[in-house]
Amino acid sequence: MNPSDIHIGLKGVKKSYGKKEILRGIDLTVRRGEILSLVGPSGSGKSTLLRCINRLIDIDSGEIRVDGKDIRKIDPVELRRRVVLMPQNSVMFPGTVMENVMTPLKIAGIEGEKRVVNALRDSGVPEELFHRDAEKLSGGEKKRVALARAIALRPEALLLDEPTAGVDPKKVELIERSILDMVKKRRLTVIWVTHDTEQALRVGNRIASIKDGKVVKVGKKDGFEWEGVY
Ligand SMILES: Nc1ncnc2c1ncn2[C@@H]1O[C@H](COP(=O)(O)OP(=O)(O)OP(=O)(O)O)[C@@H](O)[C@H]1O
Ligand SMILES: [Mg+2]
Repeated sequence: MNPSDIHIGLKGVKKSYGKKEILRGIDLTVRRGEILSLVGPSGSGKSTLLRCINRLIDIDSGEIRVDGKDIRKIDPVELRRRVVLMPQNSVMFPGTVMENVMTPLKIAGIEGEKRVVNALRDSGVPEELFHRDAEKLSGGEKKRVALARAIALRPEALLLDEPTAGVDPKKVELIERSILDMVKKRRLTVIWVTHDTEQALRVGNRIASIKDGKVVKVGKKDGFEWEGVY
């Protein structure tokens, strides 16, 4: 692979909490504009890995590069604008849906109601929800607002931590569709964590599987041999 095709690269990444090794030497590359599905059992370190990539936590050893640059050499605030995490729990801030999407922009010193509206539309949030109390939305609606909050920052890469978990199964494909459309429209690089192997196959250009803090398999849809369903 041409090194300039690699958008996010991890090499020998290790992270422990106390004496417990969570990530035990992760090697992974994500190409520009690709969706990499990341699967693995509960507790295997998926969320920890995403949190390392935008430096919400620092790794103990190894290296993570974004666009060829070691993330320790990138200003963390800039990094978190370029590589945005949609966390596993879509916690809403007090206030309306629009305010929820506006807040991270304000923190970043960006004004722009238009951006907020576009991000909400692209995430499939219906207009009648824009002025509702965000904390009172359904789980699926909150996921969409969290997505809008992430993309309003106009990132180059998205780290999606189980973006459809807990969503009514009938709505899962709708959310999936709006993410895929938006990712294509904005040409984003994505790491998409999911427990749903069918979804991993549907959405990912490649699939990586981690277990006990190591990548045990990575491959394309065709020829990817599954050990089983997690
Ligand atoms: N801040 C922390 N302090 C101590 N241990 C932690 C911390 N965060 C995560 N862990 C532990 O690290 C391990 C991996 O957690 P992580 O959340 O990355 O797993 P996961 O693969 O995302 O699981 P799930 O599929 O259930 O979301 C777990 O054993 C967890 O208890
Ligand atoms: Mg997790």
